[in-house]
Amino acid sequence: MTQEKIALIEAKRIVLGVTGSIAAYKAIDLASKLTQAGAVVDVITTEAARQFVTPLSFQSVTGRPVYTDLWQPDSSGGLPTHIAHVGLGEGADLLLIAPATANTIAKLAHGLADDLLSVTALAVRCPVMIAPAMDGGMYQHAATQANLSTLQSRGVQIIEPEVGRFASGLVGQGRLPETPTLLGLVRRRLAQNGLLAGKRVVVTAGGTKEAIDPVRYITNRSSGKQGYTVTQAALDAGAEVTLISTVDYLPVPAGAVHIKVGSAAEMLAAVQQAVVNADGLIMAAAVADFRPATVATQKIKKSDGNQTGLTLELARTDDILLAVKSIRQQTGYPRCVVGFAAESHDLLTHAASKLERKGLNFIVANDITAPDAGFEVETNRITILDEGGGQKSYELLTKAQVGQVIVEQVAKILIDKSS
Ligand code: CTP
Repeated sequence: MTQEKIALIEAKRIVLGVTGSIAAYKAIDLASKLTQAGAVVDVITTEAARQFVTPLSFQSVTGRPVYTDLWQPDSSGGLPTHIAHVGLGEGADLLLIAPATANTIAKLAHGLADDLLSVTALAVRCPVMIAPAMDGGMYQHAATQANLSTLQSRGVQIIEPEVGRFASGLVGQGRLPETPTLLGLVRRRLAQNGLLAGKRVVVTAGGTKEAIDPVRYITNRSSGKQGYTVTQAALDAGAEVTLISTVDYLPVPAGAVHIKVGSAAEMLAAVQQAVVNADGLIMAAAVADFRPATVATQKIKKSDGNQTGLTLELARTDDILLAVKSIRQQTGYPRCVVGFAAESHDLLTHAASKLERKGLNFIVANDITAPDAGFEVETNRITILDEGGGQKSYELLTKAQVGQVIVEQVAKILIDKSS
């Protein structure tokens, strides 16, 4: 699968240290995906790593020289100084060691510096992340755990290895996480000084499911994608994000706390709890307005209807944004509330009335009749209406870009409120 460019990662200088674990092969994919996302990736391999993978593999995916030797005369590959370890460290945005062996972890914890990677680790001034990968017994060993605690106390971020089956056939904790997880964590780390750093944001996504009986429910065509891209954009801006969604087929962006709900009532309860002290709420979910008045405890049978059909009685659900409006009137939180209006007719009139009625800071209106916008497609055509009467229409955007537009607007409102 190819990786799209990621604004947050583009042009960032990442030094990727690869050490001698069987998981070193996974680092080739990681180097490739980071490069595709737009990063400038300088790989350092240790001697042990080169028993598993060759420098040429990394060079082929990054298009850059690979660094192996502390003593190589011209190993700086055009970097700011002729001394590779200083040159690599200088201007780096991140040092990521993945996979990191017990040996490298021990060396780093004790400040040993006998190869290019350990010397570079001492020279860098950027954030350092390490992803241990080793046999479960080695990982759990008191020496390894003590070394990891030492590194953590110095500000190094340790990426927890996953539990699974090792090359030895044993099962335990020590596996290098897969590339999407590593990429997500890198993204999170690079976001730490973003526009929403230190802010708490709640996002809802997906269509609610209103049970009819134990096997059936009423739902709508919302895929949840737009809420997930808003979540990713908020994470990329450095926010702590709680994602309340009805779907489980989309990958949860790394770093978000995911709360899975089904019905509108469950979503209401989750939102009420999550918005206490939240800075922002972005209601991208398509919440049902009606639910079956009673839920049959047993599967409804054909014979429960008559010859022509079956009548279901529907009852109104609570409006989540109206409930939040009253919480906000009492507590002042969330400080910024955003709604969506997906309409098939009179888009702006309906959106303006929802903006006002639900007490929103702004509403994102989109016309669901356009073939390239709204439900089940990757793009959206939006107009943002704000509480001050402002109105701005955007060109056709990807849902990821819409997420960024919304997050920038939320950040602007929160900054204005703080000043
Ligand atoms: N919404 C909500 N609670 C509901 C229904 C909707 O919080 N029970 C939120 C949606 O998440 C969205 C906004 O309100 O952000 C507008 O949703 P929409 O379905 O367009 O509006 P409704 O209030 O349902 O009004 P109408 O049925 O007239 O379209």
